[in-house]
Amino acid sequence: MRAMMISGKTRVLGTLALLLCSTAALADDDASASSRAAATVAKMTTDEQTILTHGIMPMALGDFGSGGPKFPDDAVPGAGYIYGIPRLNVPSLRETDASLGVAYIGGLRKDGATALPSGMAMASTWNPALIEAGGAMIGSEAKAKGFNVMLAGGTNLMRDPRNGRTFEYMGEDPLLAGTLAGAAIRGIQSNHIISTTKHFALNDYETARDFANIIVSDKNARESDLLAFEIAIEQGKPGSVMCAYNKINDHYACDNDYTLNKVLKGDWGWKGFVMSDWGAVHSPTTALNGLDQQSAWILDGKDYLGKILAENAAKDPAYAARVKDMNQRVLYAIYANKLDSDPAMKGGAIDFEAHGAVAQKVAEQGIVLLRNEGNILPLAASAKRITVIGGYADSGVLSGGGSSQVEGPGGPAVAIPLGGDGAFALFFSQAYQRSSPLKAMKALAPDTKFSFTRGDYITDAVIAAKKADVVVIFATQWSTEGVDLPDLSLPHGQDALIDAVASANPHTIVVLENGSPVLMPWLNKTAAVLESWFPGARGGQAIANILYGKVNPSGHLPGSFPASLDQLPRPALPGAETIEPDFQGKAHPGEALTIDYNIEGADIGYRWYARNHTKPLFPFGFGLSYTSFALSGLKVDAHNMTASFTVANTGSVAGDDVAQVYLTSAAGTAHERLVGFQRVSLAPGTKQSVTVKIDPRLLAEWNGTGWTVRGGQYSFALGTSAADLQPAISTNIPAKTLKP
Ligand code: BGC
Repeated sequence: MRAMMISGKTRVLGTLALLLCSTAALADDDASASSRAAATVAKMTTDEQTILTHGIMPMALGDFGSGGPKFPDDAVPGAGYIYGIPRLNVPSLRETDASLGVAYIGGLRKDGATALPSGMAMASTWNPALIEAGGAMIGSEAKAKGFNVMLAGGTNLMRDPRNGRTFEYMGEDPLLAGTLAGAAIRGIQSNHIISTTKHFALNDYETARDFANIIVSDKNARESDLLAFEIAIEQGKPGSVMCAYNKINDHYACDNDYTLNKVLKGDWGWKGFVMSDWGAVHSPTTALNGLDQQSAWILDGKDYLGKILAENAAKDPAYAARVKDMNQRVLYAIYANKLDSDPAMKGGAIDFEAHGAVAQKVAEQGIVLLRNEGNILPLAASAKRITVIGGYADSGVLSGGGSSQVEGPGGPAVAIPLGGDGAFALFFSQAYQRSSPLKAMKALAPDTKFSFTRGDYITDAVIAAKKADVVVIFATQWSTEGVDLPDLSLPHGQDALIDAVASANPHTIVVLENGSPVLMPWLNKTAAVLESWFPGARGGQAIANILYGKVNPSGHLPGSFPASLDQLPRPALPGAETIEPDFQGKAHPGEALTIDYNIEGADIGYRWYARNHTKPLFPFGFGLSYTSFALSGLKVDAHNMTASFTVANTGSVAGDDVAQVYLTSAAGTAHERLVGFQRVSLAPGTKQSVTVKIDPRLLAEWNGTGWTVRGGQYSFALGTSAADLQPAISTNIPAKTLKP
């Protein structure tokens, strides 16, 4: 009980202490988790062997596959529930979404949780330690609510900015996304609960997500999306991997011998369990092809990994062997993460104040200043009249929709239901976190006269804009799981609104609240643009702090902003014209969609722009500051595989820079790849030496069985973004081959 009263702050601090654990102790824990799992498997009766292999949806909305009307006593309304085995002291698994906090599942629980800023905001921090603290914070809330599994660790790459779930993920680069997702997972699991990483793999579109067939070569997959997962798994050691809905080279991702057996469990030697995404299982063969646990089986129509698995195991030795292995893997994850010895219990205390501060810090480091003409920002507290327009800025900040949606205590400040009916309609509402940027701005500038107009009518907004010294216009673009964005415009006429307002008042500052890159046809008319993403529980405060210079902006883009749709590998959204729209991506009879990822292959985002010599609107890695920095003295140590350089703050205020090191050519072939990065905090006039490790896989090519670093000259450059690199330096790197 006492343990349950430990505050969130203590838990977050506890993470730092945990980081000091010795590797030897971890190795012991790992071996002991494996041998304990084997001992428990040996004690299981035949009936017990198919308990941990399938689960239900504990939503108390009806049966949902629980096998009867009774809602399990220890279940918590959430995404999933797996019965435990009390005779063997195996706990039930109580699963909640997701990467941004404990999801509210359409209001079925009204207990409130702290929303982290979106994945893109987290990735814009380029700060693994902060993202780990964020993970520790949301994991502690999950545990306090009685959950012991968090369906987090979204690691899919931003292959297309129109993906409706871009906001749940960490951008377009395997090193950045893998490192940050790994950090988030580590933080979550520091609470002695399991985190997933998801959605494995190549699930980069929502259109037809249930059946889209991704065509991709082994080499292209290994060097892009799979590499991001590989890094996240190495660094985060998630107890579970959630396989995705889509097909990969004709086989469903949850029934995929290649990704699950060969890559994940074989080449990477990962010992945890694969759980299915909700409604992603179509066949009993999933057991043979690597799936260990069927989530919410009722959504699949059949308990393929329940009764059907038991029948198959009774007559087929291949299934019988797998049943043992499936249990071994689930139990390994339970023991390795101490779910049995440090159980999650409902009713734990949550320190929302301390947790809000963590969310705010992430937002403050993740907001990206994209434009600042004539240094209009930071705003002077002395500005006499400011007109604020749009985005419900008087009430809150926007959040993304779907299973990852988190609601703060007291519910949303504004919720705009999208209508429709059916069990899932309640998930679809555009919700604003209770953190008003306008209120926070007023608190920072008590002598300024603020006016607010909703921005519904251009005429209104233009009149208000003309009366002000400065205009701050909040533009929103909601995105959600289940649907892709049709294009990259701002909805509801906001592009025209911004254009008219900025034409009426050149001192117009645009604050974007959105999940993913947008086009900015009005850009040159504005004075400043701040990309605040979906900024989470304290987003309003974070935005105001940056507008007024209480915090110096330091976010850097984790994904490129295209200048036009034509610049994308697939200018037309795959399936947009052929697939019947359906929030759940469900297949209608006869529908099929094939998406060829080999067009761009592993050259996602900035690598695609570099390959085509095109210039995006804003490049990967870009972000302005109120101070200036100088990067210098790059040296690469080919023996130790490190890059060293110096970062100096050459301006007049303190600030953080994100220094980036790029590979520009490998053994004579031009390649652009991020190989290292470091966030550095510097007082004005100070400098710091930095050394970053270079993962040799980033210099290598996948050769079919491992990685080959070709011997020869390699060039590297420091950059403030992928499009702004200093002259490269070259070094000779000897040939080597690495295991997968
Ligand atoms: C989503 C997963 C989520 C699961 C449970 C699925 O629709 O794709 O990300 O974890 O639902 O809510």
